[in-house]
Amino acid sequence: MERSLILVKPDAMERNAGGSILARFESQGLKIVGLKMLHVDEELAKKHYEMHIGKIFFNDLLEYITSKPIIAAVLEGKGAIEKIRNIMGATDPAKADPGTIRKDFGIDIQQNAVHGSDSPESAEREINLFFGKDQVFDY
Ligand code: RTP
Ligand code: MG
Repeated sequence: MERSLILVKPDAMERNAGGSILARFESQGLKIVGLKMLHVDEELAKKHYEMHIGKIFFNDLLEYITSKPIIAAVLEGKGAIEKIRNIMGATDPAKADPGTIRKDFGIDIQQNAVHGSDSPESAEREINLFFGKDQVFDY
């Protein structure tokens, strides 16, 4: 079993898509083992997106991800990290496959509805950033 962090990003929250997006993952066999709503501050945003520091879109990305409250969830399942990335679709919704979350809910390459960890190392780092040990459940 593998675990991954997903975020429902501000654009999707604003359009009341939080529950629908969580349902997409649950219906594909992923189990919610951690869940919270929070307004990400600049410090957490910088840590979460540290791999993008220095990129041309970094400041816009910080402003966007801190603009409205989001949902953070830890999802568990067999091959969860890759499975989630497939359910999410390509970073740019215009290039995402039909039936993916980003195709159906994303607006543009920045406002793309959802985040998912991209490797086991990222998943562990990101889960620990957003969740305490006692906020993730074995069941
Ligand atoms: P994520 O980390 O959110 O799951 O997305 P990703 O792996 O598919 O894409 P990544 O390259 O890690 O980019 C992180 C987020 O930054 C925003 N972005 N904006 N304006 C741009 O060109 C641009 N490129 C990326 C998106 O919100 C993207 O998901
Ligand atoms: Mg990424």
